[in-house]
Amino acid sequence: MILNILAVSAEAFPLAKTGGLGDAVSGLCRALHRPGHTHVTLMLPAYPAALEQAGPLHECARLEGLAGGTATLLAGTVPSLGLPVLLLRNDALYRRDGLYADAEGNEYPDNAVRFAALAQAAARVAWGIPGVQRPDIVHAHDWHAALVPLYLRQMRADEPKTLLTLHNIAFQGVFPLDLAPALGIRQSFCTSDCAEFWGRLNFLKAGIRHADLISVVSRTYAREILTPAFGCGLEGVLADRADDSISIPNGIDVSVWNPQADEYLPGLGFSIGRMENKAVCKRRLQERFGLTPDPAAAVMALGSRVTRQKMADVAAQALPGALEAHPELQVCILGRGEKPLEAALQDLGRRYPGRCAVHVGFQEPEAHLLHAGADILLHGSRFEPFGLTPLYAMRYGTIPIGSRVGGMADTIRDPGAPRGLESMRQATGVLFDGDSAADMAAAIDRALALRRHPDIWQAMQRNAMRTDFSWSRAAPLYLRAYRALCPRRPAGVPAARVPAVGPKEESRGRRAGLLGYADPAWTRP
Ligand code: ADP
Ligand code: GLC
Repeated sequence: MILNILAVSAEAFPLAKTGGLGDAVSGLCRALHRPGHTHVTLMLPAYPAALEQAGPLHECARLEGLAGGTATLLAGTVPSLGLPVLLLRNDALYRRDGLYADAEGNEYPDNAVRFAALAQAAARVAWGIPGVQRPDIVHAHDWHAALVPLYLRQMRADEPKTLLTLHNIAFQGVFPLDLAPALGIRQSFCTSDCAEFWGRLNFLKAGIRHADLISVVSRTYAREILTPAFGCGLEGVLADRADDSISIPNGIDVSVWNPQADEYLPGLGFSIGRMENKAVCKRRLQERFGLTPDPAAAVMALGSRVTRQKMADVAAQALPGALEAHPELQVCILGRGEKPLEAALQDLGRRYPGRCAVHVGFQEPEAHLLHAGADILLHGSRFEPFGLTPLYAMRYGTIPIGSRVGGMADTIRDPGAPRGLESMRQATGVLFDGDSAADMAAAIDRALALRRHPDIWQAMQRNAMRTDFSWSRAAPLYLRAYRALCPRRPAGVPAARVPAVGPKEESRGRRAGLLGYADPAWTRP
């Protein structure tokens, strides 16, 4: 029996991407799509870039009465992903340069309408539109798609079942409550046990209340968001749904992030035991960024959104001291984000010419060179639901320094300084606690000290490069979740709840209130 999944998202690389959400959605869908077994259809707004990337499209439905007016549903296939796609076209809503904000970073004032329309259209597809495949499961990603379960409840549709994946609960889609009628949300759904949140309308809360199952992108983040420090005000709502929540760690697309054959680094493939080209990538990186070409330098990369989440403010304070203390250190920064933080980092670049280079912006080819050429990745985060970037770095033998939060606490292996130098032969990176400049500086000191022991450093590089981060680990866990939800599940798959895996996981699940899904072995230090 074929399982039909409709994946609804604001991002999916290469149609649309501002960060890890885009990578995670397309990576997962690709890993799940198996013609004849599991059919995954992506559904996104018809942004200009998505229309360009999607290949030939045909109009398959005209949807009247959506928030923001009539839209058309375009169907096709994304050639680079080999996946069927539905794009919701309403040029008044989606024909803009940014996904969520204009070039100055100002959020579009009608984002509530834009993403309510996406969710309404997905709910209609789920309900059934002639000529469009009706899904068995709607998989909604983050707040942009979180109203799908609410609209299905309003339609009194018990099927298809819905799975809401939480990639980052810091973004919730919070808008004035009086917008509800324009978004087709009934008054009876604007209560505190539904979409209302401190007198406002909260898309993510509505999704958490009404989705049949909720998944979180790492085990540690799933636990953290039940606490006030990480719950962003939703900890109580999440705790109420804890019995219907699971954690499934992301993977990375190992065909795109492949040091042996990286399409952006032709002829520069490298692997464990054949690392010569990593040195060539390092030289290219130094040249491209205007750093002093020096093979002995310790090149530390920062490649992420330049935001407080990513501790860009802390990095701006910690890096001058680190550059003064370690003459071998070079810093290479690629990213964009909050303007004052970008300016603080650019200032550093001016203060340390040849040793600190800052490129504001983000291009995929430069990101690949950054991960391939650097020795170290500095990835501080105040919270990190999963964190794909350190995994990309590890694949290329670039040792991450990461905060001990969320997915990074699960994926970066660091026995810790008190266990002694020898124990670091098992490590894949350096973790640190706290968000002060001193905390980050101490972690940089520790990484540079480790690098002075080439045999230990090389062991860490090998461990990092060997670790299997592919989606092939996560995809079966999602499949089990879908099948457990799906009323027309194949024989032999247990009904109702997703089964817990193993006694240890079960007790962990009960304590945290989460159904204990086994994380793959690579997450255990
Ligand atoms: P997050 O999604 O929180 O930014 P992840 O590490 O999970 O963190 O994913 C980041 C992804 O976004 C990576 O694919 C990275 O290459 C990309 N990325 C980082 N910074 C930018 C940027 N300024 N513009 C576009 N993409 C970026
Ligand atoms: C979000 C999170 C990031 C995660 C990504 C994919 O953007 O901030 O940690 O890796 O989603 O799930």
